[in-house]
Amino acid sequence: MSTETRILRYDVLSSTNSESRRLIESGEIAGPVCITARRQTGGRGRGDRAWHSPAGGLWMTQVLVPVAPRERWSLYPLMAGVAVARAVRETFGLECDLKWPNDLWWSGRKLGGILCETVGEYILAGIGVNVQVDLGEMDSVTDPRPVDLAEACGTPFCDGQHEVQLLLRAVQRNLDLEHSVLAECPRRLLQRYRRLCVLIGERVRVITGGDEYVGVACGVEEDGALTVLRMDGSYTGVRAGDVSLRLESGGEDR
Ligand code: BTN
Repeated sequence: MSTETRILRYDVLSSTNSESRRLIESGEIAGPVCITARRQTGGRGRGDRAWHSPAGGLWMTQVLVPVAPRERWSLYPLMAGVAVARAVRETFGLECDLKWPNDLWWSGRKLGGILCETVGEYILAGIGVNVQVDLGEMDSVTDPRPVDLAEACGTPFCDGQHEVQLLLRAVQRNLDLEHSVLAECPRRLLQRYRRLCVLIGERVRVITGGDEYVGVACGVEEDGALTVLRMDGSYTGVRAGDVSLRLESGGEDR
């Protein structure tokens, strides 16, 4: 991938991830491409949740041609998280962190999220960042309330479209960089990830299909699992996909 990646811009899509999947499966795209929409009518989040995506957000899917071997593909969601958090930091000067695995987190509130999916030989990095979005109707369902960049920066943007484009370019640059780091030195990528991860050292509640426990998040394993030290002294590697994870100090998963 490179920052020269072709960008397909849409006004409205159901979901940029679903559209990317459709285009790959129908053979209409082969190779890296980026798909963006001003708004999505069926935006999807992790854990089969809906993703609120009116105009005013960065809603994009970067179709990645993985350069890392398959055994490292589980690190792509973390890699994308590092890239987007760094893009937010460099573009807006905000302390954007990551709540494992890749929620974009600012001041204890969710600024955006990432949904990575595999389609054949491609990985879709579906990225959603609230730039200047009407979050009003979401307030009742999430605690703490999500946040957008305009609120985090403390200044309303004009219509947010300029900031969306700035962020898109920064995300592409950072994806390029972090993708190379992952291919060349996964340990380094994990170091970069750990520096941004707000959960390390914190008490967390882990809720899986049939189990619920409290522990302390103490590290990230080589495959991207979160290591949790349980109250009985045992360690568990928590893998994304089948868990809901809450900071005991607040910060429920969306
Ligand atoms: C999460 O649950 O935190 C992940 C949210 C991912 C949302 C983005 S918006 C662009 C892309 N298209 C989708 O339908 N979802 C992702």
